[in-house]
Amino acid sequence: MAILQANSITKIYRSNLSIAHRALDNFSLSIEKGEFVGVMGPSGSGKTTLLNILATIDTPTTGEVIIEGTNMAHLSKKELALFRRRQLGFVFQDFNLLDTLTIGENIILPLTLDKVPVKEMEQRLQSVAKALGIDQILDKRTYEVSGGQQQRAAIARAIIHEPLLIFADEPTGNLDSKSSKDVMDTLTSLNQQHGISIMIVTHDPFAASYCERIVFIKDGKLFTEIRKGRNQQAFFQDILDVLSLLGGNVNDISTVRP
Ligand SMILES: Nc1ncnc2c1ncn2[C@@H]1O[C@H](COP(=O)(O)OP(=O)(O)OP(=O)(O)O)[C@@H](O)[C@H]1O
Ligand SMILES: [Mg+2]
Repeated sequence: MAILQANSITKIYRSNLSIAHRALDNFSLSIEKGEFVGVMGPSGSGKTTLLNILATIDTPTTGEVIIEGTNMAHLSKKELALFRRRQLGFVFQDFNLLDTLTIGENIILPLTLDKVPVKEMEQRLQSVAKALGIDQILDKRTYEVSGGQQQRAAIARAIIHEPLLIFADEPTGNLDSKSSKDVMDTLTSLNQQHGISIMIVTHDPFAASYCERIVFIKDGKLFTEIRKGRNQQAFFQDILDVLSLLGGNVNDISTVRP
């Protein structure tokens, strides 16, 4: 069953000179429950635009987004905000943690907004922090821990309310290769052991090789999609092959790690 269905999404940005730019052109995508999907494509191809529209942060010019049977356009602003807060989780390239709070306080922030009882918050915090291997750093500040630990804290914050679906835009974009691997391993285990559906946007073919399926975008349109077959190594090679077909700027591919 599809958890998310995007039907014929078009996004047109208008600048103040009234020059229209079609960032997405009649784009459709369906994400199955428990699926781990990657989105790749050259810089400016529309990946972030797509993610923001699917994640209900932005609205399409035309087309519809249906999550768990609900058309997002039919929700009021308030209902949409609540839906987003309860059902969706977000992870960004620059972690977006508050440095005035400890790591633990950052992680429980979404629960405090929902007025969850303190004892329950504490229990959930311990369990997600253990699962992500960051239970030893909960009292530290953001500047006292590594980038990879910050990103795992951001993932903990994104899942503490047990969302249906996680959206991550370049989650490994600011990380070294060891931390990237930790973060992708973390997302994979959330996907496989907890059945959380995940969509990530990435330039990094190594990170992408953790996904089950990669959707490639070019000029706001679907270029092609590929699925993981036998193993991750072969999938990594397939991803590199499509990227070379896609052309674009080689520098868009941040690092190539076998
Ligand atoms: N708010 C906006 N107003 C006008 N144009 C925009 C806006 N946001 C994005 N664009 C344009 O839409 C196109 C797609 O942008 P988008 O950010 O989705 O690309 P991307 O694939 O995420 O690129 P990158 O890999 O560099 O992050 C680009 O040409 C961009 O300049
Ligand atoms: Mg982007």
